[in-house]
Amino acid sequence: MKLSDSDRWLPEAALDRLGLEGEDLASYQHFWDRAAQLDAVRAISDQDSDESFETSGIVDAEGLAPFLPPDCRFLEIGCGIGRVLQHMAPRCREVHGVDISAEMVKRGQERLAHLPNVHLHHGNGYDLALFDDVSVDVCYCAFAFQHMPRTTVFNYLVEIHRVLRPGGVLRFQVPNILRDDQFTAFQYFSRPWFVLHPYPMNFYTQFEIVSLAIKAGFWVEEASGDIVVVARKQEQAGVAAGLPHQDHYRELQDRNAALTREVATLTQALDRFRGHPLIRAARAARDLLRPGSRSDPGPPQGTGEG
Ligand SMILES: C[S@@+](CC[C@H](N)C(=O)[O-])C[C@H]1O[C@@H](n2cnc3c(N)ncnc32)[C@H](O)[C@@H]1O
Repeated sequence: MKLSDSDRWLPEAALDRLGLEGEDLASYQHFWDRAAQLDAVRAISDQDSDESFETSGIVDAEGLAPFLPPDCRFLEIGCGIGRVLQHMAPRCREVHGVDISAEMVKRGQERLAHLPNVHLHHGNGYDLALFDDVSVDVCYCAFAFQHMPRTTVFNYLVEIHRVLRPGGVLRFQVPNILRDDQFTAFQYFSRPWFVLHPYPMNFYTQFEIVSLAIKAGFWVEEASGDIVVVARKQEQAGVAAGLPHQDHYRELQDRNAALTREVATLTQALDRFRGHPLIRAARAARDLLRPGSRSDPGPPQGTGEG
């Protein structure tokens, strides 16, 4: 089921609906539209010049090459103006990119108009409603998950798992807060200016992001020190042998499974207890004596105040 198929996710509590002013999805989309207008190339890749931008995506495309089946249908989340898509075009049958920014998508469509198998889509910023279940072979996300709230990243992971074909691969990258070079970037964003004007930037540990991928249903095959993750849609979720923290994930999974079993046993015991004739009789008597029940005579008259 697509995330957007249902309205059962609507918040129930008034406090849940409060929300931070200026932190809604529309202002977030507006941020990326303004970035695209100001300088799309540097908003995407601050290390690139206009010239190097045309070729910097080749490295990404080469990294993806081992995962591409023949006739591959490829999808990039947060594709910007197609820095990577352009180099996937000769390697795949169909190349799709989805981005929250209409401005990025428009510029990307203009840039890559000469590549007929490349399609850029303006997405809603949190799901892949544009794509059918089991319709994509390989998904990719670079320098985009880091700009989204963690909850959105998780939504995308769940949606990517939905749209991938069995055996399909997701490759993505997020910055590692535990690495000194990437902690420097984290520190940069801790400056008072960014506290006053929050910039959408999130850092992870390997353990956190791999746990989210597992929770979304993936089998995680790789998670490098600079957190490039390779995850596959398989029957079972989990991590491959040899991954860092492998024992922790197993331990967590075992503990979750043990807890689920314990809850089931306790629920059964509680049901048996509730069904015991003595307990049923006691509950029936309590219900009869409850204020408001028909046999309840109510408080004695004339004892109230006033
Ligand atoms: C730094 S750029 C990277 C672009 C591209 N991945 C690349 O490497 O060339 C980040 C992109 O993610 C997009 N983005 C940010 N949040 C998004 C979201 N929630 N859903 C889809 N795209 C998003 C932005 O509009 C922007 O184009």
